[in-house]
Amino acid sequence: MALVKYILEDNSEVTIEAHVGQNLMQIAIENDVEGIEGACGGSCMCATCHVKVESVNGVELEERSELELEVLEMEIDEVATNSRLGCQIEINKEIESITVRIESIQSI
Ligand code: FES
Repeated sequence: MALVKYILEDNSEVTIEAHVGQNLMQIAIENDVEGIEGACGGSCMCATCHVKVESVNGVELEERSELELEVLEMEIDEVATNSRLGCQIEINKEIESITVRIESIQSI
């Protein structure tokens, strides 16, 4: 179990208890968190699950894969060092809490 805090585009916050094995896109969709669309279903192809990771407690996140970085660079104007695809961040046993800011893009 980990706490996932989403900071929405209007700066309001939503905190959700998440289970090991869920990714940040799925958690947002299941809990009607605004701004995460997940258009490709988590296949690392659309970037409509874009978030910026503000903090993580418990463990360092793994680096972005080459494919994740490629998709971010194709779909996002300015890719920040903490830009991630929510579908590529899976809750594991080590993560105690994670805070991400939603910076969504719309699918066409
Ligand atoms: S849901 Fe499409 S890249 Fe994450």
